[in-house]
Amino acid sequence: MTYEEARAKMSAIGQEHVFKYYDELSAEGKAALIKQVEETDFSVLGKIDKGAGSDRGKFSPLAAMQLPEIEARKQELHDAGVKAIKEGKTAALLLAGGMGTRLGSDNPKGMYDIGLTKPVYIFERIISNLLDVVKETDTWIRLFIMTSEKNHEATVKFLREKNFFGYKEDRIVFFKQDMAPACDFNGKLYMEGKDRISTSPNGNAGWYSSMVRAGLDKILTDEGIEWIDIFAVDNVLQRICDPCFVGATVLANVSVGAKVVRKAAPDEAVGVICLEDGRPSIVEYYELSEEMMNAKDANGEPAYNYGVILNYLFRTSELAGVTDDRMPLHVVKKKIPYIDENGAPVKPTSPNGFKFEQLVLDMIHQLSTCLPYEVIREHEFAPIKNPTGIDSVESARELLKKNGVEL
Ligand code: UTP
Repeated sequence: MTYEEARAKMSAIGQEHVFKYYDELSAEGKAALIKQVEETDFSVLGKIDKGAGSDRGKFSPLAAMQLPEIEARKQELHDAGVKAIKEGKTAALLLAGGMGTRLGSDNPKGMYDIGLTKPVYIFERIISNLLDVVKETDTWIRLFIMTSEKNHEATVKFLREKNFFGYKEDRIVFFKQDMAPACDFNGKLYMEGKDRISTSPNGNAGWYSSMVRAGLDKILTDEGIEWIDIFAVDNVLQRICDPCFVGATVLANVSVGAKVVRKAAPDEAVGVICLEDGRPSIVEYYELSEEMMNAKDANGEPAYNYGVILNYLFRTSELAGVTDDRMPLHVVKKKIPYIDENGAPVKPTSPNGFKFEQLVLDMIHQLSTCLPYEVIREHEFAPIKNPTGIDSVESARELLKKNGVEL
């Protein structure tokens, strides 16, 4: 793209100010800005007012596989899972492209040390949990790690220094997720430098399209990977590719398995798995009507009772049918670093604009069938979002200790 073309592209959407400092840039800076203009999808800016999920369909309950059934079928589920893992049909994908702004550390979230008497890093906990399955099945599961351009170098350097916490390096593949532009509340793009428009990772649903863009879907095909377990970096207790979950999903012959926990209270602030117009979906707690909150299933249990914990086992052959433009775009108020009118960098302390995200949970609705699989919250759900309080370093430490992890 030439400078003239880049200018025309931006002036057509009223964003010519991104070239304000163009004349003072080095040749390299000029080329970088033009490349960014060429590669960035600015169509998100036109969707600020639309928001996500405004037109929801008709909700109905979706039964989960509950603990008693899992216990009764333990051997059968376990054997089916071990078989799929041993046959190399299962991979894992760590979502580590987020900015972790609530935690407030400048480093990638996985580098956060939650230890008390010794260093215990978030990445270390996650890898240790996956290593349990590697040891049990005697199989090195392919591990994809999604970073973003904001944290890629730091993540790779850290894990390399730590020798990947014992994981086999040649079984790990890193890739960067795509970025989306960020703007102020009036839709005007922020600049994060004189030669760079502010961007942020395009949301955790970006994993599939970013993986395809990096050419990595070829690994899935070449290695015969039929299932991929997508999980968040911040749940330090979660089990990944654990045989019973894999086995239950494979045997149920569904498009996706979703780990869920029983809600602590009818109005708990978690996304609840259900059906929407007959397809699996997640209804946010604030979208639950009084009637849905009180609805009961055949056993007299609450019908909308299982919250998702961002651990999904996707059937890879169905991913190509999940397309970005069918999924809602979430417009989120965030703190966006920028340069002011004098070119000086500003790090805001409160939200100053919008970023644009697509979320993994919206991928579920693109698929035809889902098995919600119950796990015990105290054993598998210790998310770290904040330094203190709910879903924090503090609460996760307590849960880790209860599960016998030394900190
Ligand atoms: P969160 O929704 O908690 O977002 O991510 P975050 O960016 O980590 O944290 P805050 O909201 O700024 O405090 C849930 C999971 O999705 C990943 C995160 O790394 C985490 O594992 N994620 C999120 C991505 O990989 N990419 C994204 O664009 C957003």
